[in-house]
Amino acid sequence: MGLGPYCGWNMLNDIRIVSAKNVRAIIERIQSLPRSPRANPVRQAGDVAPITLYLDQAFKEQEKHTMPKPMMSGEDIERDTRLHESLSKIEHVVIVMSGKGGVGKSTVSSNLAMALSMRDRRVGLMDIDITGPNIPKMFRIEDEKLHANEEDRLIPVAVPPSLSVMSMGFLLPDRDSAVMWRGPMKASAIRQFIEDVEWGGLDYLVVDMPPGTGDEAITIAQLMPKADGAVIVTTPQDVALLDSRKSITFASQMKLPVIGLVENMSGFVCPHCGELTEVFGSGGGERTAEALSIRFLGRVPLEPNVAVSGDSGMPVVAADPGSRSAVAFDRIAENVIREVEKG
Ligand SMILES: Nc1ncnc2c1ncn2[C@@H]1O[C@H](COP(=O)(O)OP(=O)(O)O)[C@@H](O)[C@H]1O
Ligand SMILES: [Mg+2]
Repeated sequence: MGLGPYCGWNMLNDIRIVSAKNVRAIIERIQSLPRSPRANPVRQAGDVAPITLYLDQAFKEQEKHTMPKPMMSGEDIERDTRLHESLSKIEHVVIVMSGKGGVGKSTVSSNLAMALSMRDRRVGLMDIDITGPNIPKMFRIEDEKLHANEEDRLIPVAVPPSLSVMSMGFLLPDRDSAVMWRGPMKASAIRQFIEDVEWGGLDYLVVDMPPGTGDEAITIAQLMPKADGAVIVTTPQDVALLDSRKSITFASQMKLPVIGLVENMSGFVCPHCGELTEVFGSGGGERTAEALSIRFLGRVPLEPNVAVSGDSGMPVVAADPGSRSAVAFDRIAENVIREVEKG
């Protein structure tokens, strides 16, 4: 039992109480302090419960001299070790994000992962969109059951040529269940996706994010401080609204480098004659990237076969490699490789 972990000067929180004896010991410890800090709330004795202790100045001053460094439990240390072990086997981490939903993050993630895999890289694709995990559908692996190895690590679903896929979708009870998870639960699930999944040695881990800059994005940025960076997906409509600016501000706040911008649904390819029509004019993505001082990775047209491939379980780069969108995705993968592997 201990009064930790110790978070900053203003409070102690997340103290694990494992028995009523612990509660008594903590209260005795608090009562023995020079001026009692407020302890509030102790919710549940005899169970694991977080409590927050607010400390007054006298206590803080005393503790500055007497309190040992924050202590991690054996379990925390073991988990941290597993996390670092997993991350140490992953060469590059690419996080695919956007300001809002429906712009094509999952499409970009799956095609980027597949294009990298077709370029002989060992690739992991991690779908952490808890409320809309659609990566399993894009590879037609939604009915796959997850298995664990002897070390109790989950084995991702293998997709040829060299792709390992892990999705929050595999953990949901049924295809239509949209989960309402609170932030800490999401954070813990995401952490397990890294430390409790047998990713093996990877050249790339592509992370398909939910929209925006919420809990998931913060968790990923915190867990993977050495990520190569973010690929920000936008559409011509968002370009006009500069919606991607939020993602870029977020990345800079989290010290996450930005690999570059992808403009998706840029122009429409006629399925009959193959002609490209610039519905919203051209060059918006490049101009936005320039205005935001980030690299432009490429534009992908709105092409029916992208959606059809997505629905039928094979990303367009593999299903129809000669199409405009497939060529565009492949070029984006090439640009990502150039950027990320240049060091
Ligand atoms: N370039 C494109 N051409 C045609 N359809 C696309 C294209 N990009 C995405 N889509 C379709 O748009 C929808 C939303 O894309 P998705 O990748 O799921 O977005 P997000 O992950 O950002 O919510 C999907 O049905 C997808 O098939
Ligand atoms: Mg998505």
